[in-house]
Amino acid sequence: MKKITIAIDGHSSCGKSTMAKDLAREVGYVYVDTGAMYRSVTLYALRNGLFTDKGIDEEALREHIDRGDVNISFRFNAETGRPDTYLNGELVEHDIRTMEVSSRVSPIAALPFVRTAMVAQQQQMGKDKGVVMDGRDIGTVVFPDAELKIFVTASAEVRARRRYDELKGKGMEADYADILRNVEERDYIDSHREVSPLRQASDAILLDNSQMTIAEQKEWLMNQFRQALAKA
Ligand code: DC
Repeated sequence: MKKITIAIDGHSSCGKSTMAKDLAREVGYVYVDTGAMYRSVTLYALRNGLFTDKGIDEEALREHIDRGDVNISFRFNAETGRPDTYLNGELVEHDIRTMEVSSRVSPIAALPFVRTAMVAQQQQMGKDKGVVMDGRDIGTVVFPDAELKIFVTASAEVRARRRYDELKGKGMEADYADILRNVEERDYIDSHREVSPLRQASDAILLDNSQMTIAEQKEWLMNQFRQALAKA
């Protein structure tokens, strides 16, 4: 059967990953959360003392990555029906979602050598198509020829509220003002960094889901999928 590549990019906490995961499950494609990869590198740097008083120890991080010491993989979890993130064989799905990682991931994701390494892995993961990949630069850099590109956004307040509810729902600590500040800060850094800044690809379809229910969004997405598949 014909398979396509689906690139879902957009701002943080706008429900991208939930919609990408659901779509992948619905159409039987592989889901790749590229944000989880940058988060895993951040967790690795934290655990190995690579955040110093003077900032990130870039030289050391580069060496660790070049040596192949930072291996990220995904394994399907039959219980949740979704993939979990592993860092060097250890399940880190929970640890990469903490505020500590969230507040440090943007500068890590802005390092060119980190991006080069992650993009190469992502291209490998999607080389056979049949993949839904969510991130910031999938439609612009990782798979510029993807048959379906969606750019998702929602207001910062709506996104902060959703993130707050998500953390609380998982029984984690959360403060709405802190989260809103974090969302705005990440938007700024992600769109202003030199390498692969967050931007909508010219051929991406814009989806502002501030006022949409999950069900409406699902239906909209399935329609886009069917159209893209028919055209491919
Ligand atoms: O989607 P997320 O919030 O889990 O992403 C975490 C961080 O990684 C965020 O600051 C943006 C960055 N990121 C990126 O630069 N490129 C990607 N393809 C995915 C995420």
